[in-house]
Amino acid sequence: MTAEEAAPSGSAAPPDTVRLMVLEGDGIGPEIVAATLRVLAAVGERFGIDLAFEHHLIGLAALAAHGSTFPGHIIGAVANFDGIVLGPVDHQRYPTPELGGLNPSGQLRKQLDLYANIRPARTLPGLPPPCGRSFDLLIVRENTEGFYADRSMFVGSGEFMPTPDVALSLRKITRDGSTRIARSAFELAGRRARRKVTAVHKANVLRVTDGLFLECVREVAEEYPEVEYEEQLVDAMTALLVRDPSRFDVIVTTNMFGDILSDLASELSGSLGLAASLNSGREFAIAQAQHGSAPDIAGEGVANPASLIGSAGMLLAWIGERREDQRLIDAGAAISRAIADVLRLPQHRTRDLGGDVGTAAFADLVADALRSDASKGEDVA
Ligand code: IPM
Ligand code: MN
Repeated sequence: MTAEEAAPSGSAAPPDTVRLMVLEGDGIGPEIVAATLRVLAAVGERFGIDLAFEHHLIGLAALAAHGSTFPGHIIGAVANFDGIVLGPVDHQRYPTPELGGLNPSGQLRKQLDLYANIRPARTLPGLPPPCGRSFDLLIVRENTEGFYADRSMFVGSGEFMPTPDVALSLRKITRDGSTRIARSAFELAGRRARRKVTAVHKANVLRVTDGLFLECVREVAEEYPEVEYEEQLVDAMTALLVRDPSRFDVIVTTNMFGDILSDLASELSGSLGLAASLNSGREFAIAQAQHGSAPDIAGEGVANPASLIGSAGMLLAWIGERREDQRLIDAGAAISRAIADVLRLPQHRTRDLGGDVGTAAFADLVADALRSDASKGEDVA
């Protein structure tokens, strides 16, 4: 385990430090995390935010060092931090849990009760979307239950095999889980221009589980008469998203549907590599890219770090809302704007977007954009 401090802000009245745990993860994780920390250092300077980073090992590196991909001390240490920057994990390559292979992503979401996975997908100026339409939507994915075997049981796994030829999987839907994710979606929709929520489900087949989910979302919808509400079946939803994503604003759904739809929506916006994502609960939040660890390109310095950089921006804004610290909220918005500014030009794009800019060079461009944004003055809302 290593610890390092970011450069101090140097401002006259030192603001409250933002303490971030950094977990690099597997595959391209170390590269995109390094890129993200460069951008965070730049935004810290720009807004006079004192940032402190502490690195801990997870994933295959932690398995080699500590015998587990998710060492026990990590959860214990979380209380010392304001948030986590989490790199992607390659849990497909992990051994079974008995041999130390725990999915850090699932463990953190469940153990810290980070029930709302907030996943924006929006087209950017100058970057032609593959779907041919501009859009700006937000997927609000339930994160702590559903079909995820590591989250649905108190003891044991949500998947089991009664005989060698039969495999079963449980899908857990609760009233509390559905109500709180619905509330997150309506709260977020209430702050957006369109003010529309679409609940996505499969209640025509999963009558009991998605029936309960819809019942809860409908109850919450009653509390927000100013927000338009509609429902869509998940299969139809994939077609509607491809046909015209601009008809949607906030999409609320259960864990696995949200996992799948968010990859679709971000790819429709230009690339899965652009998709920011925040795992948030009542007390804590984690910045985590939507994409995986891309082991095929690991170490080549070509991965697009925009997703994790944007996620870190969301984390700063989330901490800012809780602390009522406008600088952090502005810093989050500035990161998102800087990414969009950089991507306007084809010569600034990474390989997934048809360009040849590398991971570190892209981070430098975003850091430069943050600095020139500073020269425009304080109107960063
Ligand atoms: C995601 C990922 C994770 C998930 C994996 C890494 C467990 O696909 O964040 O979308 O399925 O939730
Ligand atoms: Mn996913």
